[in-house]
Amino acid sequence: MSRVLIVGNGAREHALAWKIAQSPRCAAMIVAPGNAGTARAFRNAPIPTTDIAGIVALAASERIDLVVVGPEEPLARGLADALRTRGISCFGPGADGARIESSKAWTKALLHQASVPTARAETFSDIQRALPALEETAYPVVVKADGLAAGKGVTICATRREAETAVRESLEGGAFGVAGQTVLIEEYLVGDEVSVLALVDGETVVPLMPARDHKRIGEGETGPNTGGMGAYAPTALVDAAMHRRIMDEILRPTARALAERGIVYRGVLYAGLILTADGPKVIEYNCRFGDPETQVILPLLDADLLTLCAATAHGELASLVNMIRWHDAACVGVVLASGGYPGAYPTGLPITGLDNPDAAAMIFHAGTKGDDQQLVTSGGRVLTVVAVAPTLHDARARAYATAKCIHFDGVTYRRDIAARELPDS
Ligand code: AMP
Ligand code: GLY
Repeated sequence: MSRVLIVGNGAREHALAWKIAQSPRCAAMIVAPGNAGTARAFRNAPIPTTDIAGIVALAASERIDLVVVGPEEPLARGLADALRTRGISCFGPGADGARIESSKAWTKALLHQASVPTARAETFSDIQRALPALEETAYPVVVKADGLAAGKGVTICATRREAETAVRESLEGGAFGVAGQTVLIEEYLVGDEVSVLALVDGETVVPLMPARDHKRIGEGETGPNTGGMGAYAPTALVDAAMHRRIMDEILRPTARALAERGIVYRGVLYAGLILTADGPKVIEYNCRFGDPETQVILPLLDADLLTLCAATAHGELASLVNMIRWHDAACVGVVLASGGYPGAYPTGLPITGLDNPDAAAMIFHAGTKGDDQQLVTSGGRVLTVVAVAPTLHDARARAYATAKCIHFDGVTYRRDIAARELPDS
């Protein structure tokens, strides 16, 4: 039996807790700091995700057998290392492996050495060297802060002027702090974007179901980038042959390259890919589960997630490769956000209509607090409404039917999640 601690407070962590707690081996489930949804179903501990010492102390005092880390920041700050030093198992890489997300320049070099297809890029820390590169490049071009910038470090620049502004803001203006003291000037790739995640235990790589995320706030992929406004799986864009190709050309060679550098990577390797005319290419790697992809992948997983996460943390995935099964169904997740997100938004607004009349739907909480008497908004992304059904069409219809019943002032969501793969909708 295992006592489990999940670190994070989003809908991703609510989904992880929900799925892991279904395991007959789960003896206790604590979420730090969690949200109103995780408080209702499990137990919250009010420790911020970046309080490394606080999380380690909590795991020790609660006799936790396995910590599953949701967000990248604590991993980049060495939470997994600190836990392992205390003899506590952790699902999530150490700070060395988390560099795959926390340094885009480091990752570019890794991918080049491993011959993994990725967008061409050059790295600069000196403005005098960066500016001439903007004369030579084709447009649009992508300017990226090297380090973690809470999802804001990427600018797609249509003109040289825009690119110069982005480079200056990062290198001279300190827009992203130390994370932006190095920038990448990267080739803009044309094609569909997909998220392909895998469990990695240092040696064995186990594919998860590919998903698609909708990142822009506006319908038809318009407007500013967000943390993710919805997702679905499976996607016809990645059929079995394409999935095999992505595993063989991208994820397995990346995992091998990490191992060759002496990094024992134990957690999720998440490849953000563009399916270009020349094949799939990496635009980013994340060192963790995706949000909102996780909310649509886990309901389709027909396997014990606690067993899988523990095996990943212990380097024992090889024995479970054949344990993973997927339900023959589709899943759609719609994110309900606060009015104004991803800009400024109000909080503390009462939420109603969560009674969830449809048995096929689930509501994963993110920016919520309070209790059943008075549940209120407390963040930009408030809820992910998820539905599973035999077809993508039905999963989509049922997710929206439930979303429609939920209300808070200014509630904002996209009406076109998964619509592209359903020409009749
Ligand atoms: P990120 O913050 O790294 O997730 O990047 C934000 C978004 O920018 C991605 O989801 C892509 O849609 C887009 N993007 C990043 N890099 C590229 C690229 N090289 N070519 C085209 N689009 C990109
Ligand atoms: N869905 C994008 C991310 O988790 O970074």
